[in-house]
This record gives sequence, structure tokens and C-alpha cells, in this order.
Amino acid sequence: MTELSATISSGDKAQTVLSSGKSYRKLAMPDLQWTPALEREMRPLYEKLANVIPSVEWPFHAPYIKAINDLKKERNAVILAHNYMTPEIFHGVADFMGDSLQLAQQAARVEADVIIQCGVHFMAETSKLLSPQKTVLIPDMDAGCSLASSITGADLRAMRAAYPGVPVVSYVNTSADVKAETDICCTSSNAVQVVESLGTDRVIFVPDEYLASYVQSQTDVQLIVWKGHCEVHERFTGEELRAYREADPSVKIIAHPECPPDVLAEADFTGSTAKMIDWVKTNEPPRVVMVTECSMADNVAAETPNVNFVRPCNLCPYMKRISLPKILDSLLEMKDEVVIDPMIAEKARRSVERMINLKS
Ligand code: 13P
Ligand code: SF4
Repeated sequence: MTELSATISSGDKAQTVLSSGKSYRKLAMPDLQWTPALEREMRPLYEKLANVIPSVEWPFHAPYIKAINDLKKERNAVILAHNYMTPEIFHGVADFMGDSLQLAQQAARVEADVIIQCGVHFMAETSKLLSPQKTVLIPDMDAGCSLASSITGADLRAMRAAYPGVPVVSYVNTSADVKAETDICCTSSNAVQVVESLGTDRVIFVPDEYLASYVQSQTDVQLIVWKGHCEVHERFTGEELRAYREADPSVKIIAHPECPPDVLAEADFTGSTAKMIDWVKTNEPPRVVMVTECSMADNVAAETPNVNFVRPCNLCPYMKRISLPKILDSLLEMKDEVVIDPMIAEKARRSVERMINLKS
């Protein structure tokens, strides 16, 4: 990865200069001691999280949460956190939480100077596309996504050439290169609406084969698909869900549309991460299996004490690269900056804005 920032010193005023030319004062490492005063200050937050964060871990998290929340003000920064972040991030330091669509909508309207994207790289790129004048940082540049890495801009150009005149819908889980070859993006929460908005009989739909299969079950538009998969959701099986139901016929099963068709066939509800959360909060089922990345059940459990979560635990290794110490480093060092080639950004932005501007 290219190092895009530099540090310059004049007297005691060290500055970090980013590739955008913006310069930021270097900040001193805050005190991360666990003290009785901090314990008292952070107690209300811990009471909310006690059922999802073991008490032995709290003295490690709490000083970071305090330091990050203080530094955010100093940097005029906001933290956008995906629903898959761990509870200490999601409930401790995030300013806005949500699914990919909600995070993109927030990125387009937040007023801060700096966005820290607690999620994966394609989400940070989407924020940068929608807020080009802001500094967008991701705490770990290697937070990728198996769907985003399954297809390149060149792959999509070849597909377009094979189906001349057929419009392209790309899932936001793609690189800016792919978005630049795309007519309109979609997320798991609006994919059917986006496909139907084009008014054509056929649509090229990339890169998630299983999301495509779900969308195909909801529309008459014929989808031409790419065979990318989410490495987290493709591991669930219909068989394991049937076993949960046999053990407790009253259990509710709700699933993300990146799951294979035999998994969705067992689901009582299918939707984006935000829609899954709304469903649990609205319906408060006594027992539920959330068939998705497993930090999300922890985040919802902290707010729904009456719901018992059955937890098949598939972790996204990319989402889990984001941690409190790395978020603190981002704020201190202003890294890692998300930069997109301006020629690609201009084309990619159109496909994301077209989605954002779609009336629901
Ligand atoms: P959502 O848009 O539903 O949050 O999904 C993003 C994602 O990466 C799911 O794996
Ligand atoms: Fe990508 Fe799957 Fe991880 Fe979401 S859960 S970021 S789709 S690998």
C-alpha cells in the first residue's frame, strides 16, 4: 500500500499532510489508564453492554472509547459504523450506524470535516464518492470484501460488451473501478427497486450471485449475473437452520439476501442488515436466529433484552480488522486516507448518486 501522508515538523507543531494537501496537527497519545473516575463515568454505557461484553474486557475498551470520543471533537470527525461492528465500537464510539444504504446517505449529508469509516473499504470509497471534499479515513486499509474482490472494472467492461445495450446494476459491495462501469448501484435494501427503476426487460446484475437470485425471485426483469459470493453468508446452510427449527419450532429465522437460496427458503424474513434489525425490534420474537455476521446479534441484543438470540457465529474477517486501537490511531495520525483517482471517481459517483436520488 502506498504511504500517502507525510509528517512535517516546525518547532513543536508537527503536522500530518495528506495526499489531498490538507494538513492536520499531530495529537499526543491520550492517557489510557483505567481509573476509578473513568469507571464511574463509563458505568452507564457498560450497564447497557453488560450482556454482550464480559466485565474483564471492559477496562481495556473503556479508556479507548473515552479517548476516541474526545478526539473526534478535536478533529471535527464523525464515525460511520456498519451494523457488523463489534458492540464496543457500535455502541461506544459510532455517531451513525446502519446498513450500506443508510451509511451512504449519511456520508452525503454529514457536516464534519472528517469521516472515519468503521466498515470495509468499499463503504469508505462510497463515502468518499459522496463527500469528495471531506477527508475519509479507514482504520485498516486491508478491510476488504470477498464480493468486491470477485470482479474488476475490466471484467465488467467485458460483460457489457457481451450484452450491448443492457444496463448494469452493481451492488455497492464493489470497487470504485467497477462502479465507474455501472449505470446504477444498489444495496441489499433497495436492489429490487433499483432493478425495476430502469424499465428494461434485462439487467446485468453484479457481483453477488445469491443476492441476484433473491432479486430474481421478486421481479420479472431478467438478470444476467456474475458468480461472486460473500464468504461469510455462503457458509450458512438450509440444513443447519432446519435443525434450529426442529429443536424449537417457535424460533424465528431471519436472513440476509447474500445467503444461498436453500438458506433463504428457511427464512421467515429476508432483508438488509438494517431491515433485519427493524424486524427484530418491531416483532420482539422470544427466540430468533439472525442469519448474518454475528456481531450484529450482539448489537441488537444490547437493546432488546426480551429477545433470546440463537447465535450461529460467522464472523467477517474484514469487518473484524476494525478495532478501537486502530480507530484511535486513525484519529491521531489521520490514516488511512481513502483516495480515488479523479477520472474514476467522477464516473463512479454518478452510479452511486443515481441510487441515492432514487425516490422510495
Ligand atoms: P447491508 O447493506 O445489508 O448492511 O450489507 C452489507 C454487507 O456487507 C453485508 O454482508
Ligand atoms: Fe463482504 Fe461478506 Fe464481509 Fe459483507 S460480510 S463485507 S459482503 S465479505
